Amino acid sequence: MASAVHVSSPEVPSSSDISSSRPPLELGSKAQFPIFSQEGSSAETPQTYLDTAATSQKPKCVIDAISSYYSTTNSNVHRGAHSWGDGATSGYEQCRSTVANFVNPANPQPSGCVFTSGYTDGLNKILHSMEASNKFDAPCDVISSVMEHHSNMVGWELLSRRRPSVKVSYLPLSPDGYTLDLEKLSGILSDPGSNVKVVSLLHASNTLGTINDLSKILEIIRTSPSGKDICVIVDASQSAPHTTLVPPSSLYFPDFVLFSGHKILGPTGIGVLYGVDGPESFEKFCPTPCWSGGEMIDYVRLGGEAGGLDVVLSEKAPSLYESGTPNIAGVFGLDVAIQTVMATKVEEIHGYLSSLTDYMHGRLLSDIEGIEIMGPPRGEDRAPLISFRISGLHCQDIGSLLNLDEIMVRTGFHCTEPLHGSLGAGNMGGTVRASLGIYNDKDDVDRFVNGLKEVVKMLTANK
Ligand SMILES: Cc1ncc(COP(=O)(O)O)c(C=O)c1O
Repeated sequence: MASAVHVSSPEVPSSSDISSSRPPLELGSKAQFPIFSQEGSSAETPQTYLDTAATSQKPKCVIDAISSYYSTTNSNVHRGAHSWGDGATSGYEQCRSTVANFVNPANPQPSGCVFTSGYTDGLNKILHSMEASNKFDAPCDVISSVMEHHSNMVGWELLSRRRPSVKVSYLPLSPDGYTLDLEKLSGILSDPGSNVKVVSLLHASNTLGTINDLSKILEIIRTSPSGKDICVIVDASQSAPHTTLVPPSSLYFPDFVLFSGHKILGPTGIGVLYGVDGPESFEKFCPTPCWSGGEMIDYVRLGGEAGGLDVVLSEKAPSLYESGTPNIAGVFGLDVAIQTVMATKVEEIHGYLSSLTDYMHGRLLSDIEGIEIMGPPRGEDRAPLISFRISGLHCQDIGSLLNLDEIMVRTGFHCTEPLHGSLGAGNMGGTVRASLGIYNDKDDVDRFVNGLKEVVKMLTANK
């Protein structure tokens, strides 16, 4: 970001306008989430969903927004000469303001919001558009980390295989086993032999629960010799649902913030690739888009050079990066999801989920013999999830047995196999992960820990 001083554009609604336009959700209540009152679920046989880090459940207002779009104004965007088309277009465009106010309320840039199908799609869009923009022709170091989700590793790795000019380094964990080794980051950045052009890191770990100190990381990057020109990409998939992404007090900024709608109460198939400086972020790092098609062009005419077409692309983000008919219904759902999170307030959500996670942490430590919990120690801030293993037990057995009592957790590597390897948790099927959402309460945690106790008893009975 060129400057630390930001002025809001007058035409963009403010974050308080947006958050006051929706009722907040009651923390710890399932009343607004229809999935919890489906047939077969009752007080006697409750369904205990502890897999929100994989995908969140959807409140009724989000489901209604999607249904309402299809039953009142379903049309394509940016093209119909009719009122339904206008309704679809204005709802679609309005969501960019919601996203901008959500990500960076001090300087909302609606035209920096490109809709994607999710984090993975957004990361691929940046990576391949940078490649299409010849950003990797010259020697280039990319910094990622061992903490990343596969989606922020594999693409860079494949890039380095097809482009020998690209070298990827994965920051290791510190000796504490749950934070990133930032000395290593400083070391690479200050090495005169390095050519760091990209740093792509997650904000909150989907396995450890660690919340990386983004302001510290950004300070290290931006104050390094070529720090202003490094493309900093933040994976906010696990932090967006409960964390302020760009705090108003920030002095240093990322270039792109990415997340998936489905983890933040929104629908699947929709996500955000947000350029913090608006279209300028895209112009600086990836002016040539990697996809092509309708929507992203100004005109296509016959009569181009050598008998080809005369094609003129749209000038800027967002349209330049949104070819083809987008997921309009998804955007309508995402808009309401983010507005609802804003109305409920991320700080309140974070506070609630932190204390529930701490309660779960305490109960696991006191009640489950042989448990090894990954990530920050109890009392330290963490994302609302706990991954663990239990000495001698296979995590798949634990998950399957819990499921018999309708207690739903995730087992395996959670798309972080290198991280599991570096934690020495590569055997016994990885780890079990219990993750919490705004609708979970202490009863869910109690059912889970009591159920886990029984499962451990059963699995160790004959050992
Ligand atoms: C930290 C993190 N990054 C990226 C992703 C990928 O998200 P998606 O599959 O929605 O693209 C996930 C999904 O679990 C995640 O937890």
